[in-house]
Amino acid sequence: MTELLFHDNIALIGFMGVGKSTVSHYLRDQYSLDEIETDAMIVESENMAIRDIFEKYGEAYFRDCETRAILKLQDCRRTVISCGGGAVMRKENVANLKKGSRIVLLTAKPETILKRVRHSDSRPILNGHMNVEYIGELMEKRRTAYEAAADLMVSTDGKRVEDICEEIVRGMNRLNGQ
Ligand code: S3P
Repeated sequence: MTELLFHDNIALIGFMGVGKSTVSHYLRDQYSLDEIETDAMIVESENMAIRDIFEKYGEAYFRDCETRAILKLQDCRRTVISCGGGAVMRKENVANLKKGSRIVLLTAKPETILKRVRHSDSRPILNGHMNVEYIGELMEKRRTAYEAAADLMVSTDGKRVEDICEEIVRGMNRLNGQ
């Protein structure tokens, strides 16, 4: 296991189902980092499930909650921050994340994403659109923003979580001149 030689946060971004939570838990456990999920912060502050927030107040309201959640993370250090899949569509969120974090974009093919999310009904953006075409199109629409935000990109298709994390840590060390 490669040693972790930096003190920034690791902000994980990328499409729904790309493996952010799995990678986040693994990094937390292996490197004794703190861990925060922006979705979990919103669920706690609103005291409501994500799909209920979308249903009751709409997406714009959810996005404002997300922006507020990210703003609260400024003082975190050595934390792995798992961001909701749409979080970096707002430039303001990217700028705030960059203050204390290196941003790591996880990617996967639409087919892989579909396999991982098809039985979930907790992602309102995909409700009624559980197919490769829709996922591929939305991913393409988001691609420029994802890539512009990323300090590091790691594909997850067909890889073990430990190998993905090893790639992330090596990449982070490199970015920090180690
Ligand atoms: C969203 C992704 C979800 C959650 C919300 C919206 C998106 O998070 O924030 O349902 O727009 O991509 P995950 O990426 O953790 O599923």
